[in-house]
Amino acid sequence: MDIESGTNRREFLKFLAASPLLGALGQVPRSDDVIASTRDALNVFDFEPVARQKLPPAHYGYLATGVDDDATLRANRAGFSRYQMRSRRLIDVSRIDTSISLLGATWNTPIVLAPVSSQRAFHPEGELAVARAARSKRHLLMLSTLTTTPIEDVNAARGEPVWFQLYPTTEWNVTRSMVKRAESAGCPVLVFTVDQIIGTNRETLRRFERQDTRDCRVCHDRTSLKTRSTRRPMFDGLELAGVDWQPPVTWEYVKRLRDATSMRLVIKGIVTREDAELAVAHGADAIVCSNHGGRAEETGRSTIESLPEVLQGAAGRVPVLVDSGFRRGTDIFTALALGATAICVGRPYVWGLAAFGQEGVDTVLDILTRELQLAMRYAGTVAIPNITRGHVVERVGGHEASARD
Ligand SMILES: Cc1cc2nc3c(=O)[nH]c(=O)nc-3n(C[C@H](O)[C@H](O)[C@H](O)COP(=O)(O)O)c2cc1C
Repeated sequence: MDIESGTNRREFLKFLAASPLLGALGQVPRSDDVIASTRDALNVFDFEPVARQKLPPAHYGYLATGVDDDATLRANRAGFSRYQMRSRRLIDVSRIDTSISLLGATWNTPIVLAPVSSQRAFHPEGELAVARAARSKRHLLMLSTLTTTPIEDVNAARGEPVWFQLYPTTEWNVTRSMVKRAESAGCPVLVFTVDQIIGTNRETLRRFERQDTRDCRVCHDRTSLKTRSTRRPMFDGLELAGVDWQPPVTWEYVKRLRDATSMRLVIKGIVTREDAELAVAHGADAIVCSNHGGRAEETGRSTIESLPEVLQGAAGRVPVLVDSGFRRGTDIFTALALGATAICVGRPYVWGLAAFGQEGVDTVLDILTRELQLAMRYAGTVAIPNITRGHVVERVGGHEASARD
């Protein structure tokens, strides 16, 4: 077939898209069509092209970007191919229970909405649409320091207080005021993100920004944290002159936070056994194994590959959550089988938000839940505690193991 000539080339691409070969290469076969409604979505990937079509290039670039060559971003997906599921037969799986307990609360599902900044850049209803979707299925929601909706309004839309995610500033009083505000709003848990303390090299974002013909400075005056914070309600009423992000924090800071609040403390952004041990030693109540969706440093390593050593460091003393690259029910199943208590998603629900508002977020959460339930059925696990390490196996020598079987 002459793949260079117009029609034939299209035919060939269609054939390729439908081919199981692509699946074997770790890519998702997709139709060329951009879905017109949530009803057309087959999986969460279907929302991304809609989001790309609807968002201004710079906003889409902000959502899509990794760092450097986006290698860690890709690794987060590729890492899952290292694990295979071990299915079990002839077990009654007519009733599936996906509930979990985490830090004293029970949740219908282990699927958590990760903190994502600036949600009104993706849809006018931003954090409120996401909170309503989280409410409808009782998903745990983490709210970013960089929320574009006041935390009190998000809590009202969610129907109960969310977990508040903290980025520290160079001024302790400013940081403490945000912590106190979250505490007064009833938030039970503070999620301290430790993987964005220094700057990042987001080249994909820069490339998309160049395609944007709008004058971004109208909305984003980047001269100082004060000017950058005009649309950041967590800074309302705070004195920001001379204040910036990225204070030189160390493990001492964890103790300082502990002493400053009665909220439970979760540390997000841990990828090694040593740091998991230190987090527990410094009083963390839980850990999120995360590389910020490949947006922090370019390690080239997925979180599903980091998870076993983080679990080793935690040694069962605190729950371990994990995020970065989760797109399928089988991904979630794998992490639970390795020992995670819950998983978080970032981009998938934002694709849903940008594409169709709350309905998009609802559908993304429904799809992930349905896929997880199906994976649980095939593994013969009727409840989350039944999912064990024995339900996944590590691939031996690339594709050889499956060829031999
Ligand atoms: C657009 C965007 C903004 C984010 N903002 C924050 C944030 O404000 N605070 C934070 O702790 N993590 C933030 N993250 C990281 C997410 O919480 C999460 O770790 C990551 O998205 C998980 O990877 P995934 O997008 O592949 O699911 C952000 C991620 C994205 C994509």
